[in-house]
Amino acid sequence: MTAYEQLIESLPKTPRTWLVTGVAGFIGSNLLETLLKLGQRVVGLDNFATGHQRNLDEVQGSVSAEQWAAFRFIEGDIRKLEDCAKACVGVDHVLHQAALGSVPRSINDPITTNGTNIDGFLNMLVAARDEGVKSFVYAASSSTYGDHPGLPKVEDVIGKPLSPYAVTKLVNEIYADVFARTYGFKTVGLRYFNVFGKRQDPNGAYAAVIPKWAAAMIEGEPVYINGDGETSRDFCFIENTVQANLLAATTDREDATNQVYNVAVSGRTSLNQLFAALRDALAANDIQYPHDPVYRDFRAGDVRHSQADIGKARTLLGYDPGFDIADGIAKAMPWYVRFLK
Ligand SMILES: NC(=O)c1ccc[n+]([C@@H]2O[C@H](COP(=O)([O-])OP(=O)(O)OC[C@H]3O[C@@H](n4cnc5c(N)ncnc54)[C@H](O)[C@@H]3O)[C@@H](O)[C@H]2O)c1
Repeated sequence: MTAYEQLIESLPKTPRTWLVTGVAGFIGSNLLETLLKLGQRVVGLDNFATGHQRNLDEVQGSVSAEQWAAFRFIEGDIRKLEDCAKACVGVDHVLHQAALGSVPRSINDPITTNGTNIDGFLNMLVAARDEGVKSFVYAASSSTYGDHPGLPKVEDVIGKPLSPYAVTKLVNEIYADVFARTYGFKTVGLRYFNVFGKRQDPNGAYAAVIPKWAAAMIEGEPVYINGDGETSRDFCFIENTVQANLLAATTDREDATNQVYNVAVSGRTSLNQLFAALRDALAANDIQYPHDPVYRDFRAGDVRHSQADIGKARTLLGYDPGFDIADGIAKAMPWYVRFLK
């Protein structure tokens, strides 16, 4: 039995209270769904900056009335310390996901990204520390590897940030480390690598590549590839990401906290391969996309290749990603077809 299977078996017998920030977003709403299905109590905080009520409604539809009754939503803003403090009351485990994602968004508007991702993060650290929560897990990012060319990426070897977004995620890690040194408040940072799955927003200028391309293909629109298509990513299905959060929050290994971990599958998929995989997955859902992709210039701030070494999370957290990119796309595509048709 894996560490996660053991956890899944034990959690319903020991209900705890979890705070998920960014709960109306993609990753937050998936964490919410899993936690409620495991009989946990969940407080959610979101200001709907990029999240949606429809994500919460969908979770409600997927759990029992009793499970849904264990969820309390607070509409609030992490840039306000009082909202963070209110949300932390009585909480055992914080899963801090709220942030403004997207490298291009941060290049267009670094001030708003900084306010949410750094000021908001600091507010959450202070509120959680003052409440004396048992654990604080936060969404870090593979963008922290910046311009370092080494592959696969290992946690201790990073380069310089390539975007304001990457700066904010690096600063999160620095603050987390300083909170351990100065207040003894220990955290776990999870450097996500291109997470994908149901409820990841396909709309808007800052949509991530998988939902953006799935939407374009379903709607018969052109698919644009920035660069030559040989740029590669370590795409990680949401269920793996949920697993990493739950393991990190509940670990009782002293040496596993006050750490950052890569959360990925250690795969490497080029954008050209991704295009083919999405087209095949759509065909399996009876939708044909007969066009070739349209190539255009490389995008500022993007790293060329990204692939994680996940040995540290395997060793210290017992992380064992059960889904590779093919499994994940096969599971996610029917959701996009339903959502967009
Ligand atoms: N999706 C990925 O591939 C990926 C990769 C690396 C890191 N991350 C990080 O994971 C986290 C979750 O990302 P996601 O993909 O679910 O994005 P998302 O945009 O779907 O979710 C973010 C949520 O945070 C909320 N939020 C934003 N600003 C807020 C504020 N000031 N106060 C309260 N709530 C606020 C949004 O409304 C949204 O619901 C983020 O921290 C992101 O930087 C994501």
